[in-house]
Amino acid sequence: MNQLLVFCRPGFENECGRELTDVAAWQGVFGFFHARPGDGYLRFSLPGPETPADLMARVPLADLVFARDWCQWLADVPLPDTDRVGAVLAALRQHRQALPACQRVEVRIPEANTDRDLGNFARKWVAPLARALRDAGLLVEGAEPSRYRLEVMLPDFQTALLGVSDARNRSPFSAGIPRLRLPADAPSRSALKLEEAWKVFLTPERAEDVLAGGRKAVDLGAAPGGWTYQLVRQGMLVSAIDNGPMDPDLMASGQVEHVRADGFRWRPQRAVDWMVCDIVDQPRKTADLAAAWFEERLCRYSIFNLKLPMKKRYEEWSSCRELIESRLQAAGIRFRLRARQLYHDREEITCFLERLD
Ligand SMILES: C[S@@+](CC[C@H](N)C(=O)[O-])C[C@H]1O[C@@H](n2cnc3c(N)ncnc32)[C@H](O)[C@@H]1O
Repeated sequence: MNQLLVFCRPGFENECGRELTDVAAWQGVFGFFHARPGDGYLRFSLPGPETPADLMARVPLADLVFARDWCQWLADVPLPDTDRVGAVLAALRQHRQALPACQRVEVRIPEANTDRDLGNFARKWVAPLARALRDAGLLVEGAEPSRYRLEVMLPDFQTALLGVSDARNRSPFSAGIPRLRLPADAPSRSALKLEEAWKVFLTPERAEDVLAGGRKAVDLGAAPGGWTYQLVRQGMLVSAIDNGPMDPDLMASGQVEHVRADGFRWRPQRAVDWMVCDIVDQPRKTADLAAAWFEERLCRYSIFNLKLPMKKRYEEWSSCRELIESRLQAAGIRFRLRARQLYHDREEITCFLERLD
């Protein structure tokens, strides 16, 4: 069976599967998914003539909102209590024809895993597994780097799911998660969300350009200041809009003007480079706000969160996207809208909207 393994935030398997089903259908590929709520991954089956590689060639992972990472599925391997490496080698030998030349292996565990022993085992297992795979000629060494990587997912001690990922279309981050450290002086953990968003939506070259010092930014729903802190770190001048108190150390930077006002109504007198918004409210209200800022050409780039309700999360995102796209198309504005559920997002997704003219 042609299958993909798709990794997502635990609890969002249904949204991830539905999105992929729709996106594949738009590309003329019929597929369906099987997921168990809370697993943090799903299987996407392609019963037609298309292979997972065909689908991955047509759909960039970066265009999907709920999929953190993915790979082509090869096999499910039952693991014995002893010689787990041997079981993986035997399974790969059977699938040798379908196995491209891989140079590396990545071992993953489910994001929701609470079994410490499994985490420790997975970490320690990579080195002996890679050595045995190399000795068996199942991982190759060569001067030319291979774009393929062998993927091993351990849902528990008894099973290994084997797959292959392709560097041209997989997450650039290990297990699909950028590892970030919260700076000691950051006013809130939310600071990590904006940093992750920049890492996910901007290449390092673009980041250097669009996050350059001296740019002007507005932070709607800014208190206590985690996002403002990140903007200040980039050397920007920030208007922080919130009725709540801002972190005093951040205010001492001299780069922040605190405005106590309603973020949905407040507008800058002159256009700024960035508008970011982390207000917890109905997603459509936030989408409406972002559309208004772009219609009025008040900013060039925006990062905002859509807090998705428990039910109909995929529908809610779809209608927010339609709202923004239809309004900006009607206003004759060239734009690009992307969205991802970030590792630091909980019941929400993060959008990046930019004006292209
Ligand atoms: C999740 S917190 C923002 C955290 C912030 N991004 C940070 O990194 O520290 C949401 C903030 O939105 C503010 N807020 C809620 N409704 C608002 C509104 N209508 N206008 C402005 N701020 C609002 C709240 O006071 C709260 O401080």
